[in-house]
Amino acid sequence: MKTHPAGRKLFAHAFGCQMSAADVAEMSGALAKRGFALTSELDEADAVLVGTCTVRDHAEHRALSYIGRLREWKTSHPEGAIIVAGCAAERIGGGELKRRFPHVDLVAGSKSVESFPSIVDSFLSKRAPAEPKTSPAVSASGISATLTIMRGCDAACSYCIVPSVRGPESHRPAGEILGEARLKAEAGAREFTLLGQAVNGWHGAFEGRPAGFGDLLGLVASVPGVERVRFMSPHPLRFDETVARAMAEHPKVVPALHLPAQSGSDRILALMRRGYDRASYLATVAMARRLLPGLTVTTDILLGFPTETEADFADSLSLLSEMGAVSAFCFKYSPRQGTPSSLLCDDVPREVKEERLVLLHALVAELSAAYLDSLVGREVSVLVDEPGTGRAADGFRVRLDEPVLPGRVVSAVVSGRAGNILMAHIPRRKA
Ligand code: 5AD
Ligand code: SF4
Repeated sequence: MKTHPAGRKLFAHAFGCQMSAADVAEMSGALAKRGFALTSELDEADAVLVGTCTVRDHAEHRALSYIGRLREWKTSHPEGAIIVAGCAAERIGGGELKRRFPHVDLVAGSKSVESFPSIVDSFLSKRAPAEPKTSPAVSASGISATLTIMRGCDAACSYCIVPSVRGPESHRPAGEILGEARLKAEAGAREFTLLGQAVNGWHGAFEGRPAGFGDLLGLVASVPGVERVRFMSPHPLRFDETVARAMAEHPKVVPALHLPAQSGSDRILALMRRGYDRASYLATVAMARRLLPGLTVTTDILLGFPTETEADFADSLSLLSEMGAVSAFCFKYSPRQGTPSSLLCDDVPREVKEERLVLLHALVAELSAAYLDSLVGREVSVLVDEPGTGRAADGFRVRLDEPVLPGRVVSAVVSGRAGNILMAHIPRRKA
C-alpha cells in the first residue's frame, strides 16, 4: 500500500440489504477521513472494502465467492489491503475467514461498525507510518441517502440470523441522527431512508422529552433541504396508529409502507414466531390505509419455510392480493446457523421452492403492472436523482420527457410504462 495518503484509493462494495450498504458507506467515510479517495475502478484501488451478508445462504455465498476472486487482485496488488466487513464476517469470524481466504488483511464484522475507526487506525499504524488526516474525499451522499437510526434486533423470528450477528437493539440518539441528516442535506441529499431491522421500534429523547419513531419521522422531515423521508423495514407488531398519524401529518414522509409479512398462513406465521396472524396483519394494513389516503404497500414474503404446504403457500399468494401489495421481495427459505428453525427439517424440496418463487414473482409482476397502469393519466411527484429520471413517492422509477436536473421535485403526468418504469411528461402550466 502506498504510504502517501493523497494517493490512496478505496474500492468499496456491499452485498445484501440497505443496512449493509449503509454500514459500508459509514466505514468508507472513516477511511476517507484517513486519506482514502473512493474509486469505482477495482484495478486502481489500494484498499478494497467488502460488506458481506448472511441473512440467506445464497447472499453469503455470493459475498464469499467475490472475496475468493479477490485473490487475483491481491496478486496484482501485493501491497493492497482487503477489508471484509458485515454479517457473514461476523458469523464466520475473523480467524476462520482469514484461514479460508489468506489474502484477506482485516476482518471487522457487523458488530464492529461503530468501533471501525479505531480498528482501522490500529491496522493502518502497523502497515504504514502515521499519516495526517485529510478532509474526506468521499462525498457523503447523493440525492438519496440513508440514516441508520438503530442497530441490531430484539425480535426472535425463528428463521432469522440477524439478532445473533448484529446483536441486541441499540438506538442512536436523536441529536446524532439529526446532525448526520443536516450534514448530508447540506451536501445535497434530498431524500432520507431511515434504516433499522425493526425500524419503528426506535425510541429516544428530543429536547428533554421522550420521542418515538413517529416523532423522529417529523424531525427528519423538518431538516432544511429534505424533500422526502422513507423508512425500512418496520415490524408489523410495532406499526401502530402513532406512526401512521405521524406519516399523515408530515407531507414529506412518503405515503409508502414496506411492511414485511413473511407469510399469509397462520400456522407458518406461528412457527416463524412473528407475533401476529394474518387477520391482525391485514388489520394493520387497513388502519394505515384509513389514516393515509393513497398509501402504497409492499412486503417481504419468505417461501418454503419448513412444513409449508401448498395450502400455506396459497395463503401467501392470496395475502398479497388481499392486502393490495404493489410489489414484494420474495425469498426462498434457507436454514441459518443457530436459529431455532434450523433445527427443523428443511423439508420443502429445492424444486418446489423454485416453483413457488416463480409463482410469487408472476403474481408480483401482475400486481405491479396493474398498479402502474392505474396511474396512467394521473399526476405523480418525482424526485429527480439522475438527469431526466427519478423516483415517485411509491418508489417506482419514472422517466421524464425533459432532462430535469437532479435534486428537483417535479409533478409529472404518467403516460405509460415500460416494464416497471413509468413514462411521464411535465405538464405545461399557464403563466
Ligand atoms: N431464509 C430466507 N429468507 C430470509 N429472510 C430472513 N431470514 C431468512 C432465511 N433464513 C428474509 C426475510 C426478511 C428479509 C430481509 O430476508 O423475508 O424480511
Ligand atoms: Fe430478523 Fe425478525 Fe429481526 Fe427482521 S424482525 S431482523 S426478520 S429477527
